[in-house]
Amino acid sequence: MTLERTFVAIKPDGVQRGLVAEIIGRFETKGFKLVGLKQLKPSKELAEKHYGVHRERPFFSGLVNFITSGPVVAMAWEGEGVIASARKLIGATKPLEAEPGTIRGDLAVNIGRNVIHGSDGSDTASFEINLWFKDEELVEWSPSDQAWRVE
Ligand code: RTP
Ligand code: MG
Repeated sequence: MTLERTFVAIKPDGVQRGLVAEIIGRFETKGFKLVGLKQLKPSKELAEKHYGVHRERPFFSGLVNFITSGPVVAMAWEGEGVIASARKLIGATKPLEAEPGTIRGDLAVNIGRNVIHGSDGSDTASFEINLWFKDEELVEWSPSDQAWRVE
C-alpha cells in the first residue's frame, strides 16, 4: 500500500456542537497523521468549487449556504489507505443508515447535518487538498512513536 493523503472537514454543525476534539480524536487514535489543520469560514466560491459535482442537484444552494454559514475545520490526514479508511470512520452519508461506531452513526441524525466531509477517492483527495490548503500549510513530520503503529 502507498502513503496517501485525504481531505476531511468538520462542517459548521460539528463545530457549533463542540464535536471538534471528538472528531479529530477518532483519526488521531486510529493512527493517521495530521498534516494540515485550520479553521475558516469558507467563501461561497470555495464552497461551490468544493461541492461542484453537486451543482445541478436540488440541495446544492442549501448545501453551499450551510457550509459558508459558520466555521469549518479543514484537515489533511496522511497514512496508508487513509482515503478509504476515513470514509469508513465517517460512515454513510445518511446518518440514520451509518453504522454505530462511525462518526455519523454516533454523532448525527440528519443528512443535511452530517457533521463531517471526507474525500471519496484519490483524485478528489488531491483536488480538495489543493483547493483548501496552500503547499506551505501542509507539514511534513514523523511521529516519534510511528514504529509502534506501522511495522
Ligand atoms: P460529503 O461529500 O459531505 O463528504 O458527503 P458524502 O460524500 O457522504 O455525500 P455526497 O453524496 O457527496 O453529498 C454531499 C453532501 O450533500 C448533502 N446532501 N444533502 N438533502 C439531501 O438530499 C442531500 N443529499 C446530500 C450532505 O451534507 C452530503 O454530505
Ligand atoms: Mg461527497
